[in-house]
Amino acid sequence: MTPPASHLPVLEAIGLSRHYAVPAGPFRPKVALRALDGVSFSLPAARTLAVVGESGCGKSTLARQVTFIESPTSGSIRLDGRPVALHDRLALRAARSQVQIVFQDPYGSLNPRKAVRHILEEPLIINTRMTAAERRERVDWMMAKVGLRPDYAARYPHMFSGGQRQRIAIARALMLNPKVVVADEPVSALDVSVRAQVLNLLMDLGEEFGVAYLFISHDLSVVRHIADDVMVMYLGRAMEIGSRDTLLDAPLHPYTRALITATPQIEANRRKVRELLKGELPSPLNPPSGCVFHTRCPHAVTRCKAEVPQLRAVAGREVACHLAETLVAQPGTPA
Ligand SMILES: Nc1ncnc2c1ncn2[C@@H]1O[C@H](COP(=O)(O)OP(=O)(O)OP(=O)(O)O)[C@@H](O)[C@H]1O
Ligand SMILES: [Mg+2]
Repeated sequence: MTPPASHLPVLEAIGLSRHYAVPAGPFRPKVALRALDGVSFSLPAARTLAVVGESGCGKSTLARQVTFIESPTSGSIRLDGRPVALHDRLALRAARSQVQIVFQDPYGSLNPRKAVRHILEEPLIINTRMTAAERRERVDWMMAKVGLRPDYAARYPHMFSGGQRQRIAIARALMLNPKVVVADEPVSALDVSVRAQVLNLLMDLGEEFGVAYLFISHDLSVVRHIADDVMVMYLGRAMEIGSRDTLLDAPLHPYTRALITATPQIEANRRKVRELLKGELPSPLNPPSGCVFHTRCPHAVTRCKAEVPQLRAVAGREVACHLAETLVAQPGTPA
């Protein structure tokens, strides 16, 4: 059976890697930091895939590759089933208009020297043949859509609050009717009191515009609220991918389990993950052999040190763990 057109994959990443050349130390030659290491996923049209994982696991690096801000070291990206020619300037320009981004920091992401009208019009000037009058009308309409008064379009970003700036960033991302919006922790820099409003706005507009979201977050309560599917990352790799309920209610990967167990105290999340897992997060400059998680895994056996586990289907999700079958049988999954 073919899936309904609305659920065909709109964005696919196939074995995406991004390595950065960084100095190994003072007066030492550069080495490759594997920020992203062979990640694949498929995002269906108009759905939300949440990406979770500790700080430094490569979430923003992934965001920069799939929005064509950077070029991956290896791997490919498909839009609507067609591979994007990553070295073709025109193809990239077309692809960029289809995949927009909302950054975490609403203070750094809007040009402080441009009025909001200019910020919102810019994508239309570059990518469409709309007349000035049409652009003006579209900007006014979009301002209203994100809950801002259109006559504020003459103002500059510093005249808005953090929540309002994030509304402007959302408006900018939607100006070209993109198929995909990558939201990189879009509410975590905002005041707690406005987070829910901005999240609800994102989700309402996503539905209205038929946008698919790649939604990066370290807050699992947000993920539970908004995601259809979840991908868990660790040290640049995907550890587990599946539907939200499968992953959050019956996680298999020991790392996913640790993340979820640590969740009730959201603010203390990072510290708690560290308490639950033995040892520190290894450096991506020198990742562990075999399964990158084996140094902190309570279940690790000899094989985990030697052999890299590939993602495979186990109990209704994809999981990269040699022991996944054994873990299915284990009662008392912490969820
Ligand atoms: N331009 C760069 N040059 C060198 N190293 C980089 C660069 N960008 C990211 N890194 C490294 O890549 C790894 C992944 O970083 P990334 O910012 O993607 O993680 P993240 O999951 O988004 O973390 P956070 O939750 O803190 O935002 C980190 O070790 C980071 O230091
Ligand atoms: Mg990040």
